[in-house]
Amino acid sequence: MNTLPSQINQRFAQDVEEGLSLQLKKLPSKYFYDKKGDELFVKIMHCEEYYPTDCELEILKEQSIQIIEACELPKDRVNVIELGAGDGLKTRELLKVLVQQHIETRYRPVDKSANAVEGLVSKLKKEIPQVETSGQVGDYFEILNQVNARSERSKLILFLGSTIGNMMDEVAQGFVRAIAENMKEDDRLLIGFDLKKEPDIVRAAYNDQQGFTRAFNMNLLERINHELGGNFDLNKFKHYPVYNPQTGTAKSYLISLCDQEVYIEALQKTFQFEAWESIHTEISQKYSKSRVEAIARASGLQIERTFSDQRAYFADVLFKKSST
Ligand code: AVJ
Repeated sequence: MNTLPSQINQRFAQDVEEGLSLQLKKLPSKYFYDKKGDELFVKIMHCEEYYPTDCELEILKEQSIQIIEACELPKDRVNVIELGAGDGLKTRELLKVLVQQHIETRYRPVDKSANAVEGLVSKLKKEIPQVETSGQVGDYFEILNQVNARSERSKLILFLGSTIGNMMDEVAQGFVRAIAENMKEDDRLLIGFDLKKEPDIVRAAYNDQQGFTRAFNMNLLERINHELGGNFDLNKFKHYPVYNPQTGTAKSYLISLCDQEVYIEALQKTFQFEAWESIHTEISQKYSKSRVEAIARASGLQIERTFSDQRAYFADVLFKKSST
């Protein structure tokens, strides 16, 4: 029998219980990101098949000047607020240009990983001391307080990396609308969208040859084993990603290879798996131009400009409040 860690994450326990009790089992992808998951995600970002990071870095390296121009910042001052900042590698490109252009900049990275925020803040204070950086640990909805915070400076809100694609459509729509409702006329919102493309390229990005994405998904079961005293046998599950070119939805599943039972000590519960039953673990939405326009319309936003990489795999879209 496993020994449980003294501190059980109750929220995690509850979400696992709920997800595994559904007719169609699922587990929330936000639990991918423990220490091991963070490390695996870095490996995914650097692997051959995973194109989104390279594409967005290309956009920010080559078009930050144009992005800042398009923001039309009044009085050469700005508060940059970033949701899900991670290691901030891409944002650094934008901040460097803001400094070059003598724009007085405050940068507030928000991330749910305290580790990521601390690392990023201390690095930036050394690398770009001209920018006043202060981090915040929090999740998606914490950013709304930040957007709301009273300041005479206009804001540039960043939501990069196609993190938005991890939300189901209605959630994503509601989230963008909530941000928009808190924006003023001079504020801007830059969202990174992974675009629809050759389906085999998308599929490969979620099924890399080295198996990092597989390990990333499997880590969810390992986490349940370690943190909640589960007894998942990882050899009895298979990582299975699919891409639907019609809806633009990439989905990942863990599939049970046989009839089996899994006991989770923290829940004092046994879960039955039939052979070939699936657990849905993640959605990564790929967007069409018209879908992005629809999100803008439904949120009271208008597209100021779209910035794409050479291959048009990815787009950073700059929004402002609609004038009507
Ligand atoms: C960080 C959410 C953008 O969905 O592409 C990478 C996470 N999952 N490989 C994505 C992820 C599997 C990634 N996002």
